[in-house]
Amino acid sequence: MIIGNWKMNTPRSDALALANAVVEMKYLESTRVGICPPALWIDSITRIVKGSSILIGAQDCVGDKFGAQTGCINANMVHEAGCSMVILGHSERRTRFAETTEKLLHTIAAVLETGMFPVFCVGETKKQRESGKAFDVVAGQLRPLLTSGLDLGGIVIAYEPVWAIGTGLSATRKDIEEMHAIVREVINRDDTLVLYGGSVSPVSAADIFNAEGVSGALVGGASLSANKFAAIVAAWERR
Ligand code: 13P
Repeated sequence: MIIGNWKMNTPRSDALALANAVVEMKYLESTRVGICPPALWIDSITRIVKGSSILIGAQDCVGDKFGAQTGCINANMVHEAGCSMVILGHSERRTRFAETTEKLLHTIAAVLETGMFPVFCVGETKKQRESGKAFDVVAGQLRPLLTSGLDLGGIVIAYEPVWAIGTGLSATRKDIEEMHAIVREVINRDDTLVLYGGSVSPVSAADIFNAEGVSGALVGGASLSANKFAAIVAAWERR
């Protein structure tokens, strides 16, 4: 599974052009490809990808069904707009909005209830890695899922080390293999997809995709170029 997270990029005309280019991409039926545009463009982009197998996702949503929550968009709304997944717990949101796994359980449940799947992000900071706490941090971010009673069968996990996001410095194959093993040990399910995210590019992709336990990628910056995104998908298929 290769997912593009466009974050807060792409003005409308760029977003629609990029979505049209992604639809033209050739990839194998066995590869699941998705894009997560800014929420305002989801409705239009859903129409562009109609008839293709490109999945559309939201970059966030809230769990409540309605109410006085100015500025919020809920799981039912993004589902109705055509999404089949929602990124939750991205480090940029954990940092800016103090999101924690505990606070997100309600949202994960709401996303699952619609039939969409969450792409649930975990990852340590540079400081946490340097002080030898990376495994504990990531395991700690995952553990509340286990006691939540949620059906983990529907959840995709993305390991995104914070220090690798947008830095051009992806984690090494060894780092990725070690952490993906920890994620799989904690989740304790054979069928969970565990993506890697953090400076995935056409250059870094081949090595990342050869790492044991990697089920694909959550791509930021490189997903803003249809050519680079296609090259990453091709690298996945060549691995
Ligand atoms: P980059 O690929 O730009 O490092 O971003 C990764 C990311 O945060 C995807 O969610």
